[in-house]
Amino acid sequence: MSTHRPVVLTINGRTETASFPAHRTLLEALRELGHVEVKCGCEKGDCGACAVLLDGVAVDSCLTLAWMAEGRQITTVSGLGSADAPHPLQQAFADSGAAQCGYCTPGVIIAAKSMIDRNPDPSEEDIRVALSGNLCRCTGYVKIVEAVHDAAAVMRTPGDRK
Ligand code: FES
Ligand code: FES
Repeated sequence: MSTHRPVVLTINGRTETASFPAHRTLLEALRELGHVEVKCGCEKGDCGACAVLLDGVAVDSCLTLAWMAEGRQITTVSGLGSADAPHPLQQAFADSGAAQCGYCTPGVIIAAKSMIDRNPDPSEEDIRVALSGNLCRCTGYVKIVEAVHDAAAVMRTPGDRK
């Protein structure tokens, strides 16, 4: 029998509370709370589809227990921007055709955001290394790398940085 306890999570700036067993992963918790923009792939750290920012750093939410995220800022791809006000990364992915089926896209964008925040002017190799934990079955990565490169340039523009 597993024991549930309240877990308080701050997701995209909003506090949400739910009762979870200690073994509930952050991926499971987020999706149970309706954050289905966080995708479930391998559930063992291989695909990156489940990536979220934890205090600004990309993590695989399938490898993180929900309670471990208490008191920290969780950001999903929906917390970066919206269809009406897209983040430069989201806009670049749309403009470049970097999303095909789109299943990998939330995790790729999160990984790219985490990298650009630390390396605002990444080389192609930097981008490929940063995204090496994100699997995409559709694009062949060329459009993804282009989109991240273009978004980084926009984000370096004074007034456009997000
Ligand atoms: S679902 Fe988390 S890395 Fe694949
Ligand atoms: S766009 Fe389909 S898996 Fe990447």
